Amino acid sequence: MLSVEDVHAGYGAIIALRGVSLHVNTGELVALVGANGAGKSTLMATIAGVLRPFRGQITFEGRSLLGLSPEEIVRQGIALVPEGRRIFPSLTVAENLRLGAATRRDPAGVQRDIEEMCTRFPILGKRFHQPGGTLSGGEQQQLAIARALMSRPRLLMMDEPSLGLSPILVDEVFAMITQLHASGVTVLLVEQNVERTLDIADRVYLLNTGRVECEGTPEQLRQQVDIVGAYLGDTQERS
Ligand SMILES: Nc1ncnc2c1ncn2[C@@H]1O[C@H](COP(=O)(O)OP(=O)(O)OP(=O)(O)O)[C@@H](O)[C@H]1O
Ligand SMILES: [Mg+2]
Repeated sequence: MLSVEDVHAGYGAIIALRGVSLHVNTGELVALVGANGAGKSTLMATIAGVLRPFRGQITFEGRSLLGLSPEEIVRQGIALVPEGRRIFPSLTVAENLRLGAATRRDPAGVQRDIEEMCTRFPILGKRFHQPGGTLSGGEQQQLAIARALMSRPRLLMMDEPSLGLSPILVDEVFAMITQLHASGVTVLLVEQNVERTLDIADRVYLLNTGRVECEGTPEQLRQQVDIVGAYLGDTQERS
């Protein structure tokens, strides 16, 4: 479904990705793990078209994404829940959800999906006309995910959706991801909660300073490296 080949990208003189290759098959939940600064967010931003790679190829369902704007990439069927849940705080929950559907031209379908989101995430229905900024952190995270789903993505990318949430809300986020995956959405997930991510992922890529250090099923990765201890031990307390 998604194929990333030898992608190099960065910010001016700073090179953040040094030849990353990975793929995501339809229906998979693929996790991307790695220490702070490994390049996880940069890779997601590059796939989403926010950042242009200076080398490499990215294809989605056989078509190249290079040169497409972020909006065009959303229209191709890819949505990103960015790091730090950037909802629009002064817009209402309803307005935030509508913005997620900005690339769609089926108003009746959009309306149905808004209702569906309020069923799936009841708090959004309760807070429907409140500014997004008045929601709690966990509620804003639900709004950020629901907003991404409003574009009807076939591939949903989530960058640290549980960061900064209380343990109960972390449980909720993981339950939500499991449920989305079960409902047929393909997921590319960045998480610092490595153990829990390995529990739900089909395959995992470990990024280290802009390169894929190893990849495989969670079992294979656990055998190859002490993934939590060796690479990520000091980041486990962040969420
Ligand atoms: N806007 C930016 N301008 C300059 N350098 C950046 C920018 N964003 C990220 N970087 C650098 O690119 C590298 C990769 O950062 P990135 O945010 O992709 O890492 P990450 O794996 O998502 O880390 P974290 O786990 O902390 O979110 C780092 O060296 C970082 O300092
Ligand atoms: Mg990041």
